Amino acid sequence: MKTYIKDLSTHKDSVVTLQGWVQNKRESKALIFIILRDGSGFCQCIADLAVLGDIKFAEASKLGQESSISITGKVVEDTRQIGGFEIHVQSIDIVQNCADYPIANKEHGIEFLMDQRHLWLRSKRQWAIMRVRNTVIFSIHKFFQKEGFVQMDAPIFTGNAAEGTTDLFETDFYGQPAYLSQSGQLYGEAMAMAMGKIYTFGPTFRSEKSKTRRHLSEFWMIEPEMAFHDIYDNMDCIEDFVRYVVKEVLENCKVELELLERDTTILEKTVEPFIRLTYDNAVAIIKGEQEVEGQTTIAVLEQDLADTKANIASLKADIAEREEKIAAGGMKKGQVNFNLNTIDKNKNQIKQLEEDERNIPQWLDSAKNFTYGEDFGGSDETVLTRMFDVPVMVYDWPHEVKAFYLKRNPENPRFARGVDMLAPEGYGEVVGGGERETNEQMLIEKINEHKLPMEVFEWYLDLRRFGSVPHAGFGLGLERLIAWICKLPHVRETIPFPRMYGRLNP
Ligand code: 4AD
Ligand code: MG
Repeated sequence: MKTYIKDLSTHKDSVVTLQGWVQNKRESKALIFIILRDGSGFCQCIADLAVLGDIKFAEASKLGQESSISITGKVVEDTRQIGGFEIHVQSIDIVQNCADYPIANKEHGIEFLMDQRHLWLRSKRQWAIMRVRNTVIFSIHKFFQKEGFVQMDAPIFTGNAAEGTTDLFETDFYGQPAYLSQSGQLYGEAMAMAMGKIYTFGPTFRSEKSKTRRHLSEFWMIEPEMAFHDIYDNMDCIEDFVRYVVKEVLENCKVELELLERDTTILEKTVEPFIRLTYDNAVAIIKGEQEVEGQTTIAVLEQDLADTKANIASLKADIAEREEKIAAGGMKKGQVNFNLNTIDKNKNQIKQLEEDERNIPQWLDSAKNFTYGEDFGGSDETVLTRMFDVPVMVYDWPHEVKAFYLKRNPENPRFARGVDMLAPEGYGEVVGGGERETNEQMLIEKINEHKLPMEVFEWYLDLRRFGSVPHAGFGLGLERLIAWICKLPHVRETIPFPRMYGRLNP
């Protein structure tokens, strides 16, 4: 039977064979320390000259980063190691010794890493993110299955737009134009009338010719649709769902979150009720006209700016101090490397902080000048969510800025019963959804107003003609949720092979 690193605790003091890759290696005269990665985890393996003998020891010392090997040795408890165990090597079988692995154990530029995505996936950080992604996906299915939803697959080739016509990818379907799906919702609505509660989980395509940290051209969306549910039931479902997924990640991805240096305080807060605000309320907060716990957005942002500047200054001072120490000489090689690495890390952090330093004044500006009636932009969402440490759900939007299928609030038809869930820490919209229009005439008007071709919506209108019921649903962007859970600066790292404006390979 094969042994995996994740199971070492059940093999304490016995001899096992592990198969994997050399993640990292350092050595002294008589010892080689190999960090082995086998996919299930990482483990330090110590090869001793006295045990291996001259020839085998020399072979092992030539192993390049990412060489593939089989290691046999004794499992020894060492609580200082990740995973809590290390291997005292008895023998090493080399599967392939490789040299010049393109990604060194130092900081690289993002474009270089994206070009090397097929290899970059092997790094500890990407390993952690992909495992969080796996847990998120599994827990999404667990949630909906336990709640009695039926999973459905919506088509990818579609004859109609669901979310507006500006970002459609057009393809040729046997000589007829077709679009790659930008949402499975309309089909989900049909299926919900057959099954009661359904969810889709599929790839979604949107052509957006801009580079932002939250847009992909191909992303995965989860879209539940529920018969006999209104906007408030919908918000309950969003809240239960997001809370469940976050809890599953906290319980099952401790090692991964630690590797990502994710402070989990905010994630743990999701057990508390989420904030629910009408659009009107949210706008008043964004513009600084309404306080949250005694503070306005304007005051909070000004404080953020001051803190950011102070952080940059202290990181710069730390770099200068380390550089001076290195220049003074007399430091051991290991210590020099450690300091150089810390300097690289600090420089990267400064880059991010400097971006904030540039952005915050713009956020301040757009918050003060927000025009009532408009949709929220990324900066408005950042400003609003900055005020809370749990997710915020904004509902009842001016109907003009939202999709054609949303129901009007019967008490105030200026508003459509849409709801967006915005994640904290500046992440913004992760979920968009709402209660659906059931009135056939209203829908026809909206389809005309949006200048959509009526013929392709005939089947959709049938849903209002035969056994129409109140219903609601939402779409959750998988990559945006993962970016927030892992606190990543960009969604591009949350999907194995990102597709976005300017990036089709590898
Ligand atoms: O808000 P959106 O456009 O809503 C819909 O598509 C509805 N049909 C959903 C429904 O009610 N069934 O998209 C839903 C979510 C967004 O909140 C966001 O998280 C994600 O999909 N999303 C994107 N994620 C990555 N890259 C993009 N370009 C995205 N566009 C939307
Ligand atoms: Mg949206």
